[in-house]
Amino acid sequence: QKPWTVPALAEAKRQGRRLAMLTAYDAGFARVMDQNGIDLVLVGDSLGMVVQGHDSTLPVTVADMAYHTAAVARALKQALLLSDLPFQSDATPERALDAAVALLQAGAQMVKLEGAGPKLEVIRFLAGRDIPVCAHLGLTPQSVLKLGGFKVQGREEQAAARLRADALAVQEAGASLLVLECVPTPLAQQITASLDIPTIGIGAGPHCDGQVLVLHDFLGLDSGHRRPRFVKDFLAEGGSVAGAVRAYAEAVRDGSFPDAAHAYA
Ligand code: KIV
Ligand code: NA
Repeated sequence: QKPWTVPALAEAKRQGRRLAMLTAYDAGFARVMDQNGIDLVLVGDSLGMVVQGHDSTLPVTVADMAYHTAAVARALKQALLLSDLPFQSDATPERALDAAVALLQAGAQMVKLEGAGPKLEVIRFLAGRDIPVCAHLGLTPQSVLKLGGFKVQGREEQAAARLRADALAVQEAGASLLVLECVPTPLAQQITASLDIPTIGIGAGPHCDGQVLVLHDFLGLDSGHRRPRFVKDFLAEGGSVAGAVRAYAEAVRDGSFPDAAHAYA
């Protein structure tokens, strides 16, 4: 199989081929993912929580992201590498460009940023300079102080309508991919059907164009926080890290993960 490219992602959506994504923070896990069917690897700013031990992603810096991105990049041959723009590094288009350049020079092939509204200008600015962008809507963990916790988003009709409009707006601004986190299954299904770019769900039901899980959750590690409903321990099922990665990639591709027990109706 050829290495993934950005244009190949939209082509995969047209062909109905689902995308399997996991987060990684180091070369060891990234290599196992790359060799066992993972299409997209995300160096998430979740590293602030699962690697650094903070209560949120707010303390993560561009330097932290670049360090882990470089480590992961060295291990990947097939999978496409995405890296998160950390808290407020995307507050203005100019700051976001500097941060994105640092991550791309560390080996990322796409940067991810949270939100719409003022971020639409940032997406347009980066995409207009040929920097591939993944948007991220629904539960946006960098907004945890305003949201008052990590909660399902888009349950009320007004919030759902806002999310539908934001999804179209990030695509229009030039995003190549959209992560939907913790949104009800029917809403994620509507959004996925309304877009040409692939959606990647986490706690967003089975109708997205792909799925993502955080490495530590996927391995069943106790995070010290309440375990979200959408998390599944694939290590228990796969028997080894490589087996877990294969079981996950297969379950995402055949649509058996997530099932109703791992989604919000
Ligand atoms: O930081 C992260 O791991 C993420 C995924 C949960 C999508 O943003
Ligand atoms: Na993130």
